Parts: sequence; structure tokens; C-alpha cells
Amino acid sequence: MLAHTPVMVAECLTALAVQPGAWYLDGTFGAGGHSWAILQAGGSVLAIDRDPSTRRYADALTVPAGRQFRWVEANFQELAGVVQEVGLTGVAGVLLDLGLSSMQLEAERGFAFREGGPLDMRMSRCGESAADIVNSYDAEALAELLYRYGEERYSRRLAKAIVAARSEAPITRTEQLVEIILRAYPGGPRRDHPARRTFQALRIAVNEELGALEAALAGVERCLLPGGRLAVISYHSLEDRIVKRFIRASTQLEALHKRPLTASEAEIEANPRARSAKLRSAERRREAS
Ligand SMILES: C[S@@+](CC[C@H](N)C(=O)[O-])C[C@H]1O[C@@H](n2cnc3c(N)ncnc32)[C@H](O)[C@@H]1O
Repeated sequence: MLAHTPVMVAECLTALAVQPGAWYLDGTFGAGGHSWAILQAGGSVLAIDRDPSTRRYADALTVPAGRQFRWVEANFQELAGVVQEVGLTGVAGVLLDLGLSSMQLEAERGFAFREGGPLDMRMSRCGESAADIVNSYDAEALAELLYRYGEERYSRRLAKAIVAARSEAPITRTEQLVEIILRAYPGGPRRDHPARRTFQALRIAVNEELGALEAALAGVERCLLPGGRLAVISYHSLEDRIVKRFIRASTQLEALHKRPLTASEAEIEANPRARSAKLRSAERRREAS
């Protein structure tokens, strides 16, 4: 069984219109489910992931005869550079399946608010952690971060509670932060867990996710061959908005659908992660220079 169940695989293959023998860039390799599907469809794959622990899935991948596969540890914001470095002039398709893999939701990575673990959240396992942020930003900067990246309406209240709590003891564990949020959050009906937006905001900030996505999309325009396809699966509105606006503003890309595709009811039932998935796709104009 795969460590991570890939989302909307059939829809991605249709969007990418995989041509036998052509190269496709999978910018979010994870456990390799999408890469494997592209290989099965006849494409060769250049796979990127910033999380070094995904290498083992690349090493374990069975590459069908006649196809090629390369895996590179990198941030997808550098995808155009990676394409050049491996000696390709361009790729026939780029796939980005944003967000986290099931492996990253393990407790010790600190992404999951339902699991006790170190408050880490670094996909690349280096740089500033979520604990560094919650223990060092002032209340105003924390509130801004929670509002901007989590769209958290109680951002100021939560930021104040975090600053008060850390003056007693540093916040180093996910369960500590969840406890602080639960105590500070107003009562009344809730659509989701009070910690969900704070954890989303911290994860986006720690990994500079939105900036990386913007840079990756700019890179796509440099490395996608004429007639090549872009497919992006996003899982929250901040990412989806960036993708939608980018495609709309691009002079080189043409959207394949006006609205994003979503997963079928059957897929959502089998894999609840698919519920929030939105797939946007585009083709690079053939006449573009
Ligand atoms: C949702 S998972 C992808 C799952 C994959 N499609 C599969 O079938 O297993 C997202 C992956 O993208 C990686 N990732 C997220 N942001 C990245 C970035 N800026 N650069 C490179 N990899 C990134 C994560 O480390 C994670 O492994």
C-alpha cells in the first residue's frame, strides 16, 4: 500500500495529456503516486521534493522500461533551474500537488494539531521552526501572521494568549499550543477545530509556502514547452487564489477550465483528504515565444 494516497490522479493525467517519451516535472514528489501514474502513462519524470525523507520513495520506485526517472531534493521555487541543471531544454508538463503528505502528518514533524509532537513544521528540516516563531514574534507580528496565512478572525486574541503563555514557559510542543488556543478561543458553535487555522498559518510561514508557489509558477513559464500543460492541486483558498490569478494574468498560459475541478464523491469517500482539493490546469500557447 502507498504511504500517501495520491489525489485526483485520473484528472491530473487528463490535464497533463501525457505524451509517451516526453518529460514531466513532478514538483511535489511525496511518496511518488503521481509520478508513478505519469510513468505508467508513458512519460519520463523529473521529480522534486524539498523534504529529504521522500528520497526513499524515489529509490523504491520501479521505473518501467523505456522511461526515465530522476529525483532531486530541491524547493520547487527553483524548478526552472533544476530542469536546466539536469540538461533538459524544457518539459511537456508540470504537476504541483501542494500541501502535506500523509507521512509529514506523523506526530514527530509537528504539523498535526491532533497529535502531540515537537512544534517543528519544517518540510526541509532546516531553517526557522514553528516553535522559533511562536516564541520570538511580538504579539502584533503573530496576529498579522495568523490573520494573513490562517484567515483567523481571532488572530489578536490568540496572539496575546500565546505571548502571555510563553512568558511562563517556552512553547515547544504542539499539544501546548493547542491547549493555549482552546483556552483563548471564544465559545459558541464552531465549523472546525480552533487550532486548524493557527497551524495552517504557522506551516505556511515556516515553509514560506506562498512565495515558493509564486516563484514556481513564474518558473513554469520558463520551462514549459509550447503546448505543454500545467496542473496544480491546491488544498486551501490562499493557494488556489494565487494559481487562479497567475493563470488569468499569464500571457503564455491558457486555462483548460474556467472553474477548478474537484474530486468525485467516490474519491472523497475513499480518501477524505481529497475533499478540499481543487485542480487548476492550463496549456502553454503554442505560438508563445
Ligand atoms: C501533497 S504531498 C505530494 C504527494 C504526491 N503527489 C504523492 O503522490 O505522493 C506534497 C509534497 O510536496 C512537498 N513540497 C511542498 N512544498 C514544496 C516546495 N516548495 N518544494 C518542493 N517540495 C515541496 C512536500 O514535502 C510533500 O512531500
